[in-house]
Amino acid sequence: MTNESTATSAAGGLDVAVIGTGYVGTVAAVAFATLGHRVVGIESDPAKLAALRAGSVPFFEPGLGEFLTEAVGSGRLTFTDDLAAGVAPADVVFICVQTPPGEDGRPDLTALRDASMAVAAAATGRTVVITKSTVPIGWGAELRRIVGAVGSAADTAVVSNPEFLREGSAVNDFLYPDRVVLGGEGPAELAVVTELYRPIIEQSFPAGRPELEPVMVVTDTATAETIKYAANGFLATKIAFINEIARICDQAGADVLTVADAMGLDHRIERRFLGAGIGYGGSCFSKDLEALSWFGDDHRIDLPILGSVNRSNAAQRATVVDKLRTGLGNLSGRRIALLGLAYKADTDDLRDAPAITIARSAIDDGATVTAYDPVVRTVAALPDVTIADDAYEAVAGADAVVLVTEWREFADLDLAAVAAVMAGDLVVDGRNWLDPLKVTAVGLRYVGMGRSAAAG
Ligand code: UGA
Repeated sequence: MTNESTATSAAGGLDVAVIGTGYVGTVAAVAFATLGHRVVGIESDPAKLAALRAGSVPFFEPGLGEFLTEAVGSGRLTFTDDLAAGVAPADVVFICVQTPPGEDGRPDLTALRDASMAVAAAATGRTVVITKSTVPIGWGAELRRIVGAVGSAADTAVVSNPEFLREGSAVNDFLYPDRVVLGGEGPAELAVVTELYRPIIEQSFPAGRPELEPVMVVTDTATAETIKYAANGFLATKIAFINEIARICDQAGADVLTVADAMGLDHRIERRFLGAGIGYGGSCFSKDLEALSWFGDDHRIDLPILGSVNRSNAAQRATVVDKLRTGLGNLSGRRIALLGLAYKADTDDLRDAPAITIARSAIDDGATVTAYDPVVRTVAALPDVTIADDAYEAVAGADAVVLVTEWREFADLDLAAVAAVMAGDLVVDGRNWLDPLKVTAVGLRYVGMGRSAAAG
């Protein structure tokens, strides 16, 4: 299909190029191919490229492998390291490269700028360039300048289309989103992107769920970019908020799960993301809050709430180690077992993982640390932590166990077997994931996050 034929060819699928095959890029490429579009994923890392071409996902994401194999097998999804060749025939180009925090905490835009210039230079005919990476508010205007300076501005339009998928449920979140946000300046480019998303908007693909039909929000680029930060900032604030309530519950002898359940019954509040625990980690929340704070600093806007959320979250991680210190008296010479290393279940991602902070603090206090995670087998940041082959091996001889990641298998632990092999009796349930009554029933001491042992 040529670019000139976009309007007529849309019914038969569009030609899509996706730059960057991290979480968002790979899922977007696989999903659009699954929905009937012809997609090329562009990746410069030879190892990742080889894996993807062979139908293998280079990170852990449940369900994605099956979709990838099918999309590659159908011929609708290919991968290349040749950006110019991939972009030239495309009707739409998604930029999905990483914007990691730089040394000062601001998003590092090097990869984003490089990709944007390369796309602008390579685009031919009518092309819509879509930013899916989380980008500083105002990037859309900058991208328009880049496209104007480097490429053929008359034929290249710019759209912001932030992504809201979560690791661990990425494919599902992509195919069945709550909303699709599109920010652009003209109806023509938005019409092309709407066409691309039509099967999702209408839930008209074979496994579509019409009852979940997502809302499409069409707006300008700055608003679309702000929606992404506002959503992540709010979710992070919600978690930090309930964690502060959990600290109050610890002092008051109250139960944060019941508090959160009752709060969640109020439709204005809603229960999800009121999960008290060890605080949020991962590559997004803390980075996006930092970016919002930088925006405030740069524009001299006072943002006291947004400026304090990451601090509150760091304090929550520290409470886990405080619970160990209180429970054991002193960590020097003690053995601590961590159950879980990934920043949350169903991922192998260790970016900003609370396990790393907790292990470091315990080691600094003189403890030795053993850990087990169902998918993480090595942690470069923790060379002094022994990684066990299963949960029982990890807890053998431990004075205390900390449940760090809410993996399903930890809810089904044989607690009597755990008690039998531990040297001590302290269980710190960083995710409120275990049943306190079952833990105490085998003679172990239960310490939750804002949850008394009696609250079963
Ligand atoms: C988050 C957002 O939920 C996505 O909508 C967004 O697209 C993504 O960031 C992004 O910007 O890329 P993700 O980081 O994959 O997704 O995972 P979440 O499920 O949101 O969890 C984030 C952190 O919050 C995890 O550490 C999780 O354990 C923690 N969390 C979550 C809680 O501590 N309590 C909760 O109730 C919920």
